[in-house]
Amino acid sequence: MSILITNIKELLQVHDTNVTIVKGTNMKTLPVLKNAYLLVENDTIVEFGPMELCDGIEAEKVIDAKGKIVLPGWCDSHTHLVYAEDRIHDFVDRINGLSYEEIAKKGGGILNSAKKLQLKSEDQLYEESLQRLNKLLKLGTGVIEIKSGYGLTIESELKMLRVIQRLKKETQAFVKISFLGAHAIPEKFKNKTSDYVDVIINEMLPQVYEGQLAHYIDVFCEKGYFSLEDTDRILTAAADYNLQPKIHVNQFNAFGGVALAVKHKALSVDHLEQLTEADIKVLQGSNTMPVALPQCSFFLGIPYTNARAIIDAGLPLAIASDYNPGSSPSGNMNLVVSLACIKMNMTPEEAINAATINGAYALGLSSMYGSITRGKKANIIITKPVSGYQQLPYAFGENLIDTTIINGIVH
Ligand code: NIG
Ligand code: FE
Repeated sequence: MSILITNIKELLQVHDTNVTIVKGTNMKTLPVLKNAYLLVENDTIVEFGPMELCDGIEAEKVIDAKGKIVLPGWCDSHTHLVYAEDRIHDFVDRINGLSYEEIAKKGGGILNSAKKLQLKSEDQLYEESLQRLNKLLKLGTGVIEIKSGYGLTIESELKMLRVIQRLKKETQAFVKISFLGAHAIPEKFKNKTSDYVDVIINEMLPQVYEGQLAHYIDVFCEKGYFSLEDTDRILTAAADYNLQPKIHVNQFNAFGGVALAVKHKALSVDHLEQLTEADIKVLQGSNTMPVALPQCSFFLGIPYTNARAIIDAGLPLAIASDYNPGSSPSGNMNLVVSLACIKMNMTPEEAINAATINGAYALGLSSMYGSITRGKKANIIITKPVSGYQQLPYAFGENLIDTTIINGIVH
């Protein structure tokens, strides 16, 4: 099916050549074509240009976007969208003054999510996750990474990965999958982390590989979770199975996780609420994408990632939702973009670059997604009538999305 979008007030992120990453001061530039048209055929962007050149172009479906903005769909490179239940208890405990670490210690946290997930049937888990994902498609997310990590037993980790595989097959979203067996240390392995790491390496990884169930390896490299040594062992083993790292680092403590990730040629390092100058130096010599998760900072009341230090050092930056029941119970990338501007001093142009092209890079997909470029996949957001694209982050909390096209299908 062909779709022609006409009278577009502002067509954002237009690139004639296929950009795959935007860094440093270039992040302040967001190419905009005013009064434009865009033509999609099946799942592909085939043409765009000024309205004067639209005469004679025909399509099966025409959408008049008068007063509206059109931009590439959000690329959310970090989520834990598959989970069994909300963690309302943790939420209230935190309001009453307990920290993330304290809540985990008293039986909440990731281990609690794992207990619930182990009990839930695969079908039920799939249905609930599907509903969550379908909501996100309407909010503009067309590319998404989803992690395992609430299983923490071989059986349940594989169950989660199969659910994610099913979401990948049966929805229009383009899904990338990370294996996060190293998300927390199960009760059974308390004070025996290295024994659990053995299980991950010797039992889980071979099965993940055999079933071709994941694209990436993730580890929660953090005090009280997985040390540098644990992380190093897991990433070394994962390399034998061709799983590139995308890891959780520097959420609460900075102790060298970034350098370790870069040593293992990580595609991305995510969180970075704590960031040292040494971390920035190490990233400057790498192809690793730093990823900030502002909703997690907002929800937990922890520091925001220092986006200015990262971008002003000439580095790229991506932003993602971290959708999960414990630290970010929302996958709304529109709010992520707002928070990046409001709380991290990113300009609207930087935030939109971070949530589109750089998000796609953090999933190894930026040659196919993340910009309006001929030949790229048709993941597209059409807003309601707005004054200009800056209104997207400005009017935080308001849903300004009118229509989305995900993989060529209108939602
Ligand atoms: O990215 N920090 C580790 N993992 C998640 C939180 C998981 C949870 O609390 O359930 C995160 O914030
Ligand atoms: Fe996370």
